[in-house]
Amino acid sequence: MRTDTAKHTEPRQHDGPAIETSGLVKVFGDNRAVDGIDLRVPAGSVYGVLGPNGAGKTTAVKMLATLLRPDGGEARVFGHDVLREADAVRSRVSLTGQYASVDEDLTGTENLVLLARLLGHSKPSARKRAAKLLEAFGLEEAAGRQVKQYSGGMRRRIDIAASILNTPDLLFLDEPTTGLDPRSRNQVWDIVRAVVAQGTTVLLTTQYLDEADQLAGRIAVIDHGRVIAEGTPGQLKSSVGAGSIHLRLRDGAQREEARSVLSQTLAAQVQPEADPVALTARVQGGGTERGAAEQAALALAELTRSGITVDHFSLGQPSLDEVFLALTDHPAHDEGGQADGREPVSRSSQNGHDAEETRS
Ligand SMILES: Nc1ncnc2c1ncn2[C@@H]1O[C@H](COP(=O)(O)OP(=O)(O)OP(=O)(O)O)[C@@H](O)[C@H]1O
Ligand SMILES: [Mg+2]
Repeated sequence: MRTDTAKHTEPRQHDGPAIETSGLVKVFGDNRAVDGIDLRVPAGSVYGVLGPNGAGKTTAVKMLATLLRPDGGEARVFGHDVLREADAVRSRVSLTGQYASVDEDLTGTENLVLLARLLGHSKPSARKRAAKLLEAFGLEEAAGRQVKQYSGGMRRRIDIAASILNTPDLLFLDEPTTGLDPRSRNQVWDIVRAVVAQGTTVLLTTQYLDEADQLAGRIAVIDHGRVIAEGTPGQLKSSVGAGSIHLRLRDGAQREEARSVLSQTLAAQVQPEADPVALTARVQGGGTERGAAEQAALALAELTRSGITVDHFSLGQPSLDEVFLALTDHPAHDEGGQADGREPVSRSSQNGHDAEETRS
């Protein structure tokens, strides 16, 4: 995708991290939306910023993309200070926001051609680039339709296409899959992988733990404007225990008894699942997989001894959902009906949050 760009970005001269922040702060009134964030994002990979609604993800991204002025601390993008060298930063980055900038009344093709022209492409080059991206993103058939007629998944794909008309060195993807169905999410994930394969660094914010797990080489978990954990997905998982037991009982009436047997045997938290016969328990296992397997076997034997029939049993790594629960004592996101593709209600107020932006 690096070919035929009329105004290509300057070659990467910076060997350090793509993003480095120290003590980054943004305050809205008395709300410390970003409360002293230190980040180091290696170039050439996907970095996940994971956190629930209101954690400060969009605010942090906007500061890094020079759209919002920090109130404290420092941030550098490819070595350029986001305040003092904002133009240099802007020439290297692209942002796909929660609210993207494509024009609903224009068709897919018209949007991409227009934006490519604004980026300095000639008319033929803009047409060629638009056609190539529409094809790559599976939007050929929809290319001639107005964007307002697109589904949520198509809309998200055209948003990302618009943000990589010129291949950026750093792409911010702010919750690119919120509200999408599993198939559309997978399509967006494939696009993200393809973008990274072209050499672009991606900073991806998400509320979905499995998404960060799927895509990101490293993850920062943020809550209330602070980084509460950072590392590879594997490190985050092993920080809360060596494994996780999932089991399904023959008889849901035995669940309370099973829960107490497990919590005694494992000395760990046991969570009932939504399914009335299912339970999840964290296994410490002295931090090793072997230890976890031994503890799990012991727990299973205790259940049998207590006359509890287990229909299904599995031992796996803890999910990032469990990681978030362990770190914060609350789940990463509520399950409040987003399956229909609508934006959650709490988002609507963010549309008015542009007053402080450093460019309009
Ligand atoms: N322009 C603004 N003016 C006032 N408050 C703001 C503004 N932008 C964000 N906030 C507040 O800052 C906090 C962090 O918001 P932010 O949008 O960064 O969260 P987020 O992690 O992106 O959440 P979500 O997952 O819902 O998108 C919230 O309490 C929000 O209400
Ligand atoms: Mg946000």
